[in-house]
Amino acid sequence: MPRDTGSLFSRTVTGKIDDGVLLVEINNPPVNAASTDVRKGLLVALDYATRTRDVNAIVLTGKGSNFVAGADIREMDGPLIEPVLPVIIEGIEASAKPVVAAINGTALGGGLEIALACHKRIATRTARLGLPEVKLGIVPGAGGTQRLPRLTGMDTAAQMICSGRICSAIEAEESSIVDDIAEGDLIARATSLAHELSVSGDWRRTGDIAAPVLHREAVDAAIRPILVKARGIPAVAEALRLVKLSATMPFAQALAEERRTFLALRDSPEAAALRHIFFAERNVTRIPEIEGVEPALFDCVGVAGLGLMGAGISVALLNAGIEVVAIENSPEAAEAGRTRIENILQNLVKAGRLDEFNRLRRLARLTVGTDPKSLANAGLVIEAVPDDIHLKRNLFQRISEAVPRQIILATNTSYLDPLAIFQDLAGAERCLGMHFFSPAHIMRLVEVVKCPKTSAKTLSSAISLARRIGKLAVVCNSCEGFVGNRLFSAYRRQAEFLLEEGATPKQIDVAMESFGMAMGPFAVFDMTGLEIAWARRKREAAARDRRTRYVPIADWLCEAGRLGRKSGRGWYDYGDGEPKENPVVLNMIEQASRERGIARRNIDSGEIVERLLSAMAVEGARILGEKVVSRASDIDLVLVNGYGFPAHRGGPMFWADRHGLSRLLKFNERRYALDGPGLEVAPLLVQLAQQGSTFVKWQSERRSA
Ligand code: 3HC
Repeated sequence: MPRDTGSLFSRTVTGKIDDGVLLVEINNPPVNAASTDVRKGLLVALDYATRTRDVNAIVLTGKGSNFVAGADIREMDGPLIEPVLPVIIEGIEASAKPVVAAINGTALGGGLEIALACHKRIATRTARLGLPEVKLGIVPGAGGTQRLPRLTGMDTAAQMICSGRICSAIEAEESSIVDDIAEGDLIARATSLAHELSVSGDWRRTGDIAAPVLHREAVDAAIRPILVKARGIPAVAEALRLVKLSATMPFAQALAEERRTFLALRDSPEAAALRHIFFAERNVTRIPEIEGVEPALFDCVGVAGLGLMGAGISVALLNAGIEVVAIENSPEAAEAGRTRIENILQNLVKAGRLDEFNRLRRLARLTVGTDPKSLANAGLVIEAVPDDIHLKRNLFQRISEAVPRQIILATNTSYLDPLAIFQDLAGAERCLGMHFFSPAHIMRLVEVVKCPKTSAKTLSSAISLARRIGKLAVVCNSCEGFVGNRLFSAYRRQAEFLLEEGATPKQIDVAMESFGMAMGPFAVFDMTGLEIAWARRKREAAARDRRTRYVPIADWLCEAGRLGRKSGRGWYDYGDGEPKENPVVLNMIEQASRERGIARRNIDSGEIVERLLSAMAVEGARILGEKVVSRASDIDLVLVNGYGFPAHRGGPMFWADRHGLSRLLKFNERRYALDGPGLEVAPLLVQLAQQGSTFVKWQSERRSA
């Protein structure tokens, strides 16, 4: 008969004895992280097992759907708290009584490291295992880099640890990471195995397994692509170095080196930034107005407009198993749209990301035509025609006349205020914006734009659809440019000021790419094309406040037919090889400086980076003040997932907190004095700077209020 040990080992760790086997269960919701209380409890449990004569073996498991999801990431911003995980893990491995890990669910990071130190591992078929530490800018810090290669070999271990990839229980069994899969009662199987081991004595310590063999060149070649992708995150190279040490350095010494490296990286700015992004992604799902509101689930979604964006959105929907009804304004355009979708799918096949069978299944779910009435079976229609307010208004008018009133209408616009697009439409409660990013079947971000009358059901359904198709949905209130494009406009404006003051496009691009941006701003402008922004500037010219500094260089480029990469020239010239700066452009830049009476000067990359990031962060403060979004971390997510901002820098608001809000306020005041209206001092920034606060602190105070 199972017998309780009489007391809890700690608040989160309990034990009971069954036939000489101590079952230790970790119960630390939501994910059984190895928090201080868990570590304390495990230490007490080990001590109890050692001292108790009628305990012959131990089974370690987790309650719920997680074994242990790793170290407690929330504790990583503070000092280390005893007992640290390696002490527990060494205690498990050194135990005189065999320990079996009953892996009931997710075993990640420190959780898998606990399991690796056990003397046997049995997992349920649905368990998932991995060492994702590099995604947090750190390396495994409790033996993972030394024990995993001993169990599975150098190649698999290096691949798993350097990529942070999570594998299934089946894969783990095939790779000898777990010993067996329990088809029935996991605990019963683990208990019986523990019992057998205690009787037979036939068990070994992972640290005693022979060192793995290292084929240095093969491992380096396999990991190279991961290293290239990890540009700016030192953890991946460090992880590779540590895994290799398992072949050459004595176990205990290599463990000490792993720990030293882990501790150094844990305190690095990159790791702090990645932790910020980790929690930002969890917070973004907290949307008070839709709490408890059941979303509608759609089998069929409509897409109006099959240009590049509409085709990408259609593919994202088709990939998620959703039926798509798409319309265009003529049979020819409809056919061209279908071809665009077919091409994207074909390219996925070529890239090995889709097989022929599934390509055909996706196409079978697609209907393309011209009649808005065909959208009547869709639960939600996404309009994706060019950003022209009249075009969009007319289209929605036609659609709303053709489909039932309950169908949700979403506009995919980058700059226009959805409120203005929907103003004449009946049923404002079913209208909202969904701003996708190009290529829409790849880019993860969607800004879900709430209008004042958008119902909670509409919002909840759109968010649920976005998540179903694998997108990160950031909710914001309706305004022009939303979050991302407003920040990007501020970035663009500051970059142009820098040009006028003495920098060149190349200097600015190099500085921002060295900071970690996927591309420098001028390379981005050229890639996306200059003419849309030019048309917008011309439209807005009459209303522009003449006191605000305006840089005309981009207009001059467009007038000279330099419309970006598509036209072979823009800020740069495009031919074979690297884009080149052109004297014509540099002359235009110098002319702009002369016309403004600016003596050009050398601007170093430090100033470039500081000014561009400050400009974004100030705009972010404005957006928060205007309640376009309620969390600074949502702004960071938008920039990281939609604009190539490096995750290991945390986003512009995180950067601003580290940079100091008083410095940011001074920047804002100086720029306003120099550059005029439109760049007013952001009231929220004044408030936080005066309080000595930060955006993150302000956000968490509001959350707990
Ligand atoms: N520490 C602290 N909190 C954690 C956590 C962790 N390791 N993992 C998840 N959480 C929290 C989340 O913040 C969230 O909290 P909230 O409800 O207050 O927002 C809650 O748990 C649920 O998380 P998710 O929303 O992500 O739940 P999912 O079910 O979608 O995913 C998961 C679960 C797969 C475990 C996912 O949370 C995850 O990947 N967690 C991180 C795992 C990880 O990176 N572990 C390694 C940590 S570093 C380490 O172990 C160092 C060691 O080598 C010494």
